[in-house]
Amino acid sequence: MTDAAARRVLFLLSSARTGGNAGRLAGRVASGLGPDDVQDWQDLARPPLPRFEDLRPSAAPPTGRLADLARAVMAADDVVFAAPVYWYALPAPAKLFLDHWSGWLDLPGMGFADALRGKRLWLITTRADPDPQVAEPLERMMRMTAQWLGMDWRGALHGVADAPGEIAQDAAWAAAPGFLALRPA
Ligand SMILES: Cc1cc2nc3c(=O)[nH]c(=O)nc-3n(C[C@H](O)[C@H](O)[C@H](O)COP(=O)(O)O)c2cc1C
Repeated sequence: MTDAAARRVLFLLSSARTGGNAGRLAGRVASGLGPDDVQDWQDLARPPLPRFEDLRPSAAPPTGRLADLARAVMAADDVVFAAPVYWYALPAPAKLFLDHWSGWLDLPGMGFADALRGKRLWLITTRADPDPQVAEPLERMMRMTAQWLGMDWRGALHGVADAPGEIAQDAAWAAAPGFLALRPA
């Protein structure tokens, strides 16, 4: 890592299995961070997040685990979603987490929208099908989300693997330690 400034990096997992490929690839990505960088790992699937209720234009402030997660996002310099491709899309827990963001954006006094602006957003995916088109809808959805939120979209690392551990044989494994390097966007 060439950038000297310490970063706080939030890794958001969402696979339906533990020890899977997306989490392993994210771990390999994290190995490229500097010794002063702070890592925060959160699994959006465990424990399950509460359902999202659309109360706009009003909203309920997050409590419990959701409040912890909201604070983790707001504190991070870099937010990294590490997700398997499920049906060309994000796994449900990650999508549900983003739905909760919608409720927080207009919440008076929370400052969530302001905190997101300019924050770096990254995506790590794994999928079984080697066809690169398979991960495109997910990447596009995250890129457009970043643009809409005024976040700093930094791109995606896509791995191909199916059985747990297969990811270590994929080309993404070798590229992973350099993935979060800070280059001009
Ligand atoms: C519910 C579900 C849906 C999936 N959908 C796709 C898909 O659309 N395209 C694909 O290539 N692989 C798909 N897969 C395979 C996973 O993306 C692949 O096994 C991946 O490595 C799992 O990552 P993980 O070990 O981190 O859970 C799917 C797997 C599951 C369980």
